[in-house]
Amino acid sequence: MTSFTAPGLSAESATTVSACLQERLSALNDLHLTLKHIHWNVVGANFIGVHEMIDPQVDLVRGYADTLAERIATLGSAPRGTAKAIEDDRSWGDYSIGRDTAQAHLGALDLVYDGFITSHRAAIEQIGKLDPITEDILIGQTAELEKFQWFVRAHLESYTGELANAGQSSETAAAAAARSAG
Ligand SMILES: [Fe+2]
Repeated sequence: MTSFTAPGLSAESATTVSACLQERLSALNDLHLTLKHIHWNVVGANFIGVHEMIDPQVDLVRGYADTLAERIATLGSAPRGTAKAIEDDRSWGDYSIGRDTAQAHLGALDLVYDGFITSHRAAIEQIGKLDPITEDILIGQTAELEKFQWFVRAHLESYTGELANAGQSSETAAAAAARSAG
């Protein structure tokens, strides 16, 4: 339990909101590291476009992590921003693609965003009942992340609107499908 929190919010609600935000903080910290990993490992045609498309998203996601960490502190809890916290909090696997083509990384990154955005939406659903201020923060973040996923998908999309990685449920399978289509 917290000893103080935002006015008008119960200590119990603040504790629940902070626990949910801690998991999303670790997810954001994992995501900006994953994005840098892709920035460093992308090769082949379209290298420079994808390499340079990633960095502004790294900055955006790092900023979102800062926002959630400071929200946790505002609500009276202590945010955990270490590598161990990411490891403890995450229920998802480490990004599994190493050196690979732009299309392969984007095929896999699309799945990363599927998982991340689904979980951010679930957090909105949970937190919205307790704290609309935190809900508003998460809604704004999700809108921008969904827009970036569109940037990713635009590279995978055919003129008939089909995605090269459609129907693939693992990063390696999505990367393989996108690589061979590209
Ligand atoms: Fe760089």
